[in-house]
Amino acid sequence: MLSELMEKGRKIISEQNYDFLLESVETGFILKNNREIFEKYTFRQKAIDAVEPDLSVNILGLTLKSPIVMSAMTMPIPVIRKGGLMETVLGLGDAGSLLWTGTPVPENLKELADSGVPVAATVKPFTDRRKIFEALETVQKAGVAWVGLETDVGWGTKIRDRAVVSDCSPLSLTEIKELKQSTDRPFVLKGILSREDALKAVEAGADAIVVSNHGGHTLDYLPHPFQVMDEIVGAVKGETEIIVDGGFRRGSDVLKGLAFGASLVGLGRPILWALAADGREGVKTLIEEMNKELLRILGMVGAKNVSEINSDILIRT
Ligand SMILES: Cc1cc2nc3c(=O)[nH]c(=O)nc-3n(C[C@H](O)[C@H](O)[C@H](O)COP(=O)(O)O)c2cc1C
Repeated sequence: MLSELMEKGRKIISEQNYDFLLESVETGFILKNNREIFEKYTFRQKAIDAVEPDLSVNILGLTLKSPIVMSAMTMPIPVIRKGGLMETVLGLGDAGSLLWTGTPVPENLKELADSGVPVAATVKPFTDRRKIFEALETVQKAGVAWVGLETDVGWGTKIRDRAVVSDCSPLSLTEIKELKQSTDRPFVLKGILSREDALKAVEAGADAIVVSNHGGHTLDYLPHPFQVMDEIVGAVKGETEIIVDGGFRRGSDVLKGLAFGASLVGLGRPILWALAADGREGVKTLIEEMNKELLRILGMVGAKNVSEINSDILIRT
């Protein structure tokens, strides 16, 4: 079911000639590594006395039905499907999840937030710093639940050899602190991949960090989050929430993200495939099917809920 849905969407996007949007920077290493890493971990089964676990998550003022959310994206959605942002938010809402917008700030962001589905919005570190403050103000006025900054696109974004975003520059810690001060919503820093940046995120007052290599759209040869999670979790010592994304495709992948210490797991490309395949219904089905997989496997590792998961359940191959 899940693989058929993703396959159908992949084919439609390819027929539309938009599959380049889903490729990655320069050599393509990141996309490959973002899948291969999952094969390195298996689960410690504890089948005796297993109970049906609770998937719900309370985080930064929101209660979500499961730890599976959308990763920040705007641009590909209306390209792949007209009216797709509204269909995506409604499909995510049907499944009790969260919409996360990226660049550009959607023109209908207020309408999306008015749907009643939780919405988060991330903005880029534009070289013209006024544009960052303006974008943060716009998304707040639209009524999003969380605001965020992409710390990892200071050198722009690139797919294969083609520059996609180029009007950005790296942020300083001082600037991040000022931006945090300018908002009254939970503040999320996306694109953290080292203990050093994680510590700076905590110092800046980030309520959450997204450990992410941006799905391979920024710099080549960045590690997968699993390669740096231990150092990051150890550095932040619970002072900020941890969200992870990059290559998550099945409920079992999500469980590995939780085992590494994340509270939420983000999906990028799978949302686009599901939307292309079947609109609102496709997005809803994607999240619900992944939830079902997660529920089964979470029960079989002996967990009662999502928050008690830790790396004890993992056996490295
Ligand atoms: C076409 C496309 C557009 C994206 N746009 C943004 C964006 O505007 N802002 C952002 O923070 N991340 C953006 N991302 C990265 C995603 O938020 C996420 O980190 C990544 O896609 C996760 O990996 P996955 O696609 O393997 O699930 C984009 C990703 C894709 C594929």
